[in-house]
Amino acid sequence: MTEIDTLTIHRPDDWHVHLRDGQMMEAVLPYTAQQFGRAIVMPNLVPPVMTAKAGAEYRDRINKALPSGSTFEPLMTAYLTDNTDPADLEAGFKDGIFTAAKLYPAGATTNSDSGVTNFANIHAVLDKMEELTMPLLVHGEVTDPSIDIFDREHVFIKRVMEPTLDRYQGLKVVFEHITTSAAVDFVRSQGPRVGATITVHHLMINRTDIFKGGIHPHLYCLPIAKREQHRLALREAATSGEAQFFLGTDTAPHAVNAKESACGCAGIFSALSAVELYAQVFDEEQALDQFEAFASLNGPAFYGLDPNADKVTLKREAWQVPDAIEVADGSTVQPFLAGETLNWKLV
Ligand code: DOR
Ligand code: ZN
Repeated sequence: MTEIDTLTIHRPDDWHVHLRDGQMMEAVLPYTAQQFGRAIVMPNLVPPVMTAKAGAEYRDRINKALPSGSTFEPLMTAYLTDNTDPADLEAGFKDGIFTAAKLYPAGATTNSDSGVTNFANIHAVLDKMEELTMPLLVHGEVTDPSIDIFDREHVFIKRVMEPTLDRYQGLKVVFEHITTSAAVDFVRSQGPRVGATITVHHLMINRTDIFKGGIHPHLYCLPIAKREQHRLALREAATSGEAQFFLGTDTAPHAVNAKESACGCAGIFSALSAVELYAQVFDEEQALDQFEAFASLNGPAFYGLDPNADKVTLKREAWQVPDAIEVADGSTVQPFLAGETLNWKLV
């Protein structure tokens, strides 16, 4: 078989990104905007993006921070709480401010304290979203402290996903950043109204990597990486080309001193080389022919959008991931696989 050395595809989109705000946003946004046509922007700021007004203001700040000439389009999400007003959510959706709404179980991850404490509190919101066919994006982990951290996604499927999808037969749901073979099977069993994003780090690392020769805080994220068998199931799903699986980096920058700490923050900053890292995975799986579906076609189709009109080219070329990027406040952020050599490069 002849080796493929260049790959031209419709410009990819990132269906799950943390752009942050202020100086951190200014530091990380150019990497996402350079590679992707659009991105679903997560709302877990402090305070979170809870209203259509806050969503419009955050979108303005992102657009102002974009490099000049950029055509990148941020797609905004609303942060659901026990008190979300269905009328405000509806207005935000109809005005084109919100593309979707994000559900964080309260306490599940970074800045999720104002999240939903009980699904019973948001029935009116979910009824409205079902009626609007507004996608619900779910951080799928239970917060029950008695459940082992490695089992939280699996238990969420049984306790929350299944009953919610049963009750709302028309609700469109994205199971975000899936990490287990159980989630892969579950998504497949639900058919086209359920999609799933898969991060590149969950395709590349397993839970043993986090502890190899010592603890690696820059490989800590939520949901935490699972056993090797799960990583392999995710690789199989991503490279299958199946319409339900699409690219979502969950790139989540934190300053190095917040990661390398007695209580380090969860989040992996992969935006610097996201498309190249995914291409590497597809190449390793001899599935480059499925890369465009996963990166550029399946996501827009799920969201009812056209693929990006323009194209990007990737070339087989060795390059080294930088050790750090600088933020204007003097802090630095360490990219995923800092210092390592990658073998695909966006032209
Ligand atoms: O690792 C993570 N970091 N997982 C999340 O769900 C949130 C994110 C963040 O915002 O830092
Ligand atoms: Zn996230």
